[in-house]
Amino acid sequence: MTAPNPYQPASDLLAGRVVLVTGAGDGLGRAAARAYAKHGASVILLGRTVSKLESVYDEILADGGPQPAITPLDLARATSKEYDGLGAAIDKEFGKLDGILHSAAELGTLTPLELYEPELWTRVMQVNFNAAYVITRLCIDLLKRSSDASVIFSSSDVARHARAYWGAYAAAGGALERLMETWADELENNTHIRFNSLNPGAVATGLRARAYPGEVPDQHPRPEEVMAPYLYLMGPDSRGTTGRAFNAR
Ligand SMILES: NC(=O)c1ccc[n+]([C@@H]2O[C@H](COP(=O)([O-])OP(=O)(O)OC[C@H]3O[C@@H](n4cnc5c(N)ncnc54)[C@H](OP(=O)(O)O)[C@@H]3O)[C@@H](O)[C@H]2O)c1
Repeated sequence: MTAPNPYQPASDLLAGRVVLVTGAGDGLGRAAARAYAKHGASVILLGRTVSKLESVYDEILADGGPQPAITPLDLARATSKEYDGLGAAIDKEFGKLDGILHSAAELGTLTPLELYEPELWTRVMQVNFNAAYVITRLCIDLLKRSSDASVIFSSSDVARHARAYWGAYAAAGGALERLMETWADELENNTHIRFNSLNPGAVATGLRARAYPGEVPDQHPRPEEVMAPYLYLMGPDSRGTTGRAFNAR
């Protein structure tokens, strides 16, 4: 499924909304955090590297966006106490949540399954899959307080159809699709929360460069250039759409 193309979001598309973005320090998460703020959202920036989150924070203020919040969290190591603290902090500061974009991810290695390092496998599953479940779960009550909430799980070609050597990255991506469908099915009729996945296609980010080190980076669009479907799925124009697997292009 694809979002409307071309899509022209209203300048105040996300005014008054509170959106949590994981992996907000770099790549697609960084671009989405800036795009959401530019369209009026108060954005909670969750990521691993504080200096990167601080620079996104400064960019959002320089763009004239609402003041964001910074939540440093290493999803490979986060404890249940830290997760509880995250939920409590959002509740205290904002009292509700209108959306989550799950964009934090690790590539792991491109390796045959029989040679994949089990510790690395566990780490990739933790960051890319388990953390997305735990964060969504801890935010459900906050999302229920919104009249129109949207949860977006990042996907990829190999999440939809695995290929050799993509290991834990593909397995976690496939599991995320099933998680998205399960949340959507369980909450479709009794809440205002929708759940969809979005495959951005090839985009020039650090993750892409690590997966394909031989590629010329500018052969793919920059994250800022693929934000239309991220805005469409986060905002009210996609109201009523849930349980769907979207492709950005
Ligand atoms: N780029 C593509 O071509 C492409 C294609 C298909 C799907 N996707 C999907 O799009 C999403 C975003 O990817 P991207 O290309 O934007 O990747 P990216 O540029 O590498 O950004 C990933 C972000 O996740 C954060 N992160 C990684 N491990 C973390 C951890 N343990 N705890 C907290 N944050 C962590 C990184 O933090 P640091 O900045 O601290 O490293 C970074 O900010 C992913 O789900 C990816 O699978 C991307």
